[in-house]
Amino acid sequence: MSPTSSDPALSADAITGRLRAAGCVFAEEEALLLIESASSPDALRAMVSERVAGVPLEHVVGWAEFCGLRIAIDPGVFVPRRRSELLARRAAELCRPGGTTPRKPPHGLAGQASVVIDLACGSGAIGAAIATLAADVELHAADIDPAAVACARRNLAPVGGQVYAGDLYEPLPGRLRGRVSVIAANVPYVPTEAVTLMPPEARVYEPLVALDGGPDGLDVLRRAAVGAAAWLMPGGHLLIETASGQAEIAAAAFAAAGLAATVARDEELGATVVIGRR
Ligand SMILES: C[S@@+](CC[C@H](N)C(=O)[O-])C[C@H]1O[C@@H](n2cnc3c(N)ncnc32)[C@H](O)[C@@H]1O
Repeated sequence: MSPTSSDPALSADAITGRLRAAGCVFAEEEALLLIESASSPDALRAMVSERVAGVPLEHVVGWAEFCGLRIAIDPGVFVPRRRSELLARRAAELCRPGGTTPRKPPHGLAGQASVVIDLACGSGAIGAAIATLAADVELHAADIDPAAVACARRNLAPVGGQVYAGDLYEPLPGRLRGRVSVIAANVPYVPTEAVTLMPPEARVYEPLVALDGGPDGLDVLRRAAVGAAAWLMPGGHLLIETASGQAEIAAAAFAAAGLAATVARDEELGATVVIGRR
């Protein structure tokens, strides 16, 4: 906040105390972030009240950090998680067949951009990261939730991404069939019964459609795997984040859909990604 306030309730110490009492673990850091982000003392007061009431910090300040990028987050849109950086980074590596080392593209595609789909894109954080990490990407993204689509359009416009509204692959332009290098998907994967056990920040402030993956959490993943082969080019990859304990069943679903599956894990991030190659 540029204009300093004489209100002692708006000092960093006072805000830290209120946030700590409300159960915020990183109260000190959050207080500084709120002070920095607020445009006026009134705005700061409102932001502190929202945070104390349990609104996720990213919804209060309007952005989240992901792979070093600042991603705009609208109210009601899923907040990208740090663990999904594994998915984004692996996807970026696979944009060029052969990984991060540039190599001669197959099928006379020299000079053509890799077509990437951020499926179930939410804010578009994963697509934005891929387009930033991998050179020469033609990015398309889709989500079923209109709020997510609007948010992703804002985040992906600077990298030239196109965003579509609808169920999984249904809204994508037909000309992409058989031409896609990478489909990166963080679809909902919480088992229905476990949604009520999630922290209120997710359960209350993120839409159910972003969380609930059906009885075993893998309903949307199975549909995404079945649909992938029609869109991937030969040698193209589908990457989907799962919970650690879901990876084996998810990999079997990939194999049943005709994809050769491997599992990538990052213990530090607590991340698991199933990777299938067509
Ligand atoms: C866990 S959130 C992930 C969002 C984003 N990929 C990220 O990592 O920040 C899941 C997203 O899937 C979307 N979604 C759920 N079912 C879908 C479907 N059938 N088709 C397209 N998107 C869907 C939700 O709207 C939500 O934005």
